[in-house]
Amino acid sequence: MPKKTAPIDLSDSFEKIPVHIFSDQKDGSVFVAKQIAALIRLKQQQKQTCVLGLATGSTPKSLYAELVRMHREEKLSFRHVITFNLDEYYPIDNDALQSYNRFMKTHFFDQVDILPKNIHIPNGEINKESIKDHCRQYERKIKEAGGIDLQVLGIGNNGHIGFNEPGSGIYSKTRLITLDNSTRIANAYEFANISEVPRLAITMGISTILQSRKIILMAWGSAKAAVLKKAVEDDDTEQVPASLLQNHDDVTFVVDEAAAAELTR
Ligand code: F6R
Repeated sequence: MPKKTAPIDLSDSFEKIPVHIFSDQKDGSVFVAKQIAALIRLKQQQKQTCVLGLATGSTPKSLYAELVRMHREEKLSFRHVITFNLDEYYPIDNDALQSYNRFMKTHFFDQVDILPKNIHIPNGEINKESIKDHCRQYERKIKEAGGIDLQVLGIGNNGHIGFNEPGSGIYSKTRLITLDNSTRIANAYEFANISEVPRLAITMGISTILQSRKIILMAWGSAKAAVLKKAVEDDDTEQVPASLLQNHDDVTFVVDEAAAAELTR
């Protein structure tokens, strides 16, 4: 009798980061929301706060909608949750339509029971001289909160995570960064025209992100397929910042079928 061998899982040989593929964005977002809810409840049982790193943009909108639903219908409480957002345009008024401070209020914070003192978002309103200090304090506040338990990420078409544009180093921390032209073009739909998109942003660094205990990156739609393949299958490089996540031991990519379309498996 020929010896039976286990089927070979080809995805292992190509993918350097575990990828969960869902048929659509809704299912993927529900999966991520369940993980977040489980973590919040576990930490609550242990009488500990839960520290979440959060993203903005179009990708996490359905995640926030699901978390808001869980708050309303399943009594998921955010009273013991501390949050740190990845980034904010600079300069920008906190209540400007395009500001990430406003985005978070509209899509999430104003609809749940999180305590305002537990919310942290880089401040796009401060004067230039104070930015370095603001960034240092942001890092210090993350440490004082005990570090980020779970960081949620999206991915830019150019591979950025947060606003860490290509070329961002693995040791980078929270800082002021110049936005790539491709990012300004991708985000121009939020502004009246491209010239109104800020040229700068404050972002957590790659090292800030990698220090999180757990990381989940979400990606939806065919526009993300090419960069997703690079981040997951190619060698890690500062030219594709999301590929630097290969250096973390608890990172998962949650994607829909369209974003997964170019994976070799
Ligand atoms: C936003 C952020 C960015 C976005 C990325 C994708 O806080 O950190 O890295 O996740 O630009 O943006 P969307 O989701 O609009 O495609």
